[in-house]
Amino acid sequence: MSDSSSQPSSNKPPHAGVRFMEWLDARFPATETWEYHLSKYYAPKNHNFWYLMGWIATVVLVNQLLTGIWLTMSYVPDGVNAFASVEYIMRDVEYGWLLRYLHSTGASAFFVVVYLHMFRGMMYGSYQKPRELIWLIGMAIFVVLMAEGFFGYLLPWGNMSFWGAQVIVSLVGAIPVIGPDMMEWVRGDFLMSDITLNRFFALHVVALPLVLVMLVFVHFVALHHVGSNNPDGIEIKDHKDENGVPLDGLPFWPYTVTHDIHATVIFLFIFCAVVFFAPEMGGYFLEKPNFEVANPLKTPEHIAPVWYYTPFYAMLRAVTYPLLGVDAKFWGFVVMAGAIVVPALLPWLDRSPVKSIRYKGNWSKWMLGLFVVAFFILGYLGTVTPSTWATILSQVCTLIYFAYFVLMPWYTRIEKTKPVPDRVTSL
Ligand code: HEM
Repeated sequence: MSDSSSQPSSNKPPHAGVRFMEWLDARFPATETWEYHLSKYYAPKNHNFWYLMGWIATVVLVNQLLTGIWLTMSYVPDGVNAFASVEYIMRDVEYGWLLRYLHSTGASAFFVVVYLHMFRGMMYGSYQKPRELIWLIGMAIFVVLMAEGFFGYLLPWGNMSFWGAQVIVSLVGAIPVIGPDMMEWVRGDFLMSDITLNRFFALHVVALPLVLVMLVFVHFVALHHVGSNNPDGIEIKDHKDENGVPLDGLPFWPYTVTHDIHATVIFLFIFCAVVFFAPEMGGYFLEKPNFEVANPLKTPEHIAPVWYYTPFYAMLRAVTYPLLGVDAKFWGFVVMAGAIVVPALLPWLDRSPVKSIRYKGNWSKWMLGLFVVAFFILGYLGTVTPSTWATILSQVCTLIYFAYFVLMPWYTRIEKTKPVPDRVTSL
């Protein structure tokens, strides 16, 4: 790859490897791609812990795709056999239990990592110019990921799979006028049935993974076009040496790659500890009612989604009043959907002259802090049985969640920011 290796030192014919690369490069941009994306792609040298999450999300994506393919080899997508086929995978298929736990723990790991990845973007203003499109593609990934998790959760055909899907699909039914017909259209039947399971299976194993992989690909293309942001929110491309190399950058290969491999090993230790010792995570990763087969005649005592949906589920339940003659359930659905997509507007809501929270004023710091606390409380409230105090607290936290976004154009403009250094600082 290096220039020196491609220069024959004497009259000797070039090395076979060099000749192969010349042959390949004449037909495919191999060296060009390697240099553009790796050896001559410069990442800011002050990248910290938060910048490992994108790479780890990629590792988890690969884990989900591979374990998913192998699970599909033994899973049977029909209402009579689905639950039994999962039991068969767990007990009789060689290492089937491992495949399943890698996949189910992988789903939770995906959301842990993606939430941290999004939070990093909010902290360091990574959605600001020129990275608006990276953020929007990320938001599309997030929505698809939520749908992917939802469709996958029905597949084991356990009692919580059945009733969880029933609750979410019935939200469509709350849409005025067209709701009931649309609900039937989504389910493909008058009630949750084999047909619903089949279409969820098709979406989970083929359609959405394809969309996800394509979105991740364009996420990378956009990222490498503009380059990474960093904890200082300074553009490293603004300070280059005489060869055009950013002074505060390090080549992705071999430096960032080594760093990322190190992080992957640590991540895998933690991930495997969960897979081997706590795959159910006390009912948070695999819920107890899902160890019973789907039963349309027996509603679980308390229906709650998996932990990564609970903040949004709490917002859905926080809306208790009908409005304009329309059921509260519909408005709950609107609030929940709004909460999921509102971060997409961040690039246009943030009017601050600086990117990173390090140089923003107190308003931004307090609002981000409150936002995180409200998100965690909502996450907890989404797991508990509804009660008056839980509803009131959910309403307060929902208001804080939206206030972070709605008030942003105001508080980012009035607050006093700190001067941003010229060059990147340490971690
Ligand atoms: C499958 C899920 C995802 C994968 C595999 C992924 C992967 C990556 C990778 C490898 C990077 C570069 C390394 C890093 O900055 O951490 C990155 C950067 C970025 N991602 Fe993602 N991402 C995913 C989801 C998301 C989501 C959901 C969002 C936001 C809604 C998002 C927004 C961003 C932004 C803004 C950057 C640039 C950050 C900066 O330069 O400061 N990504 N992503």
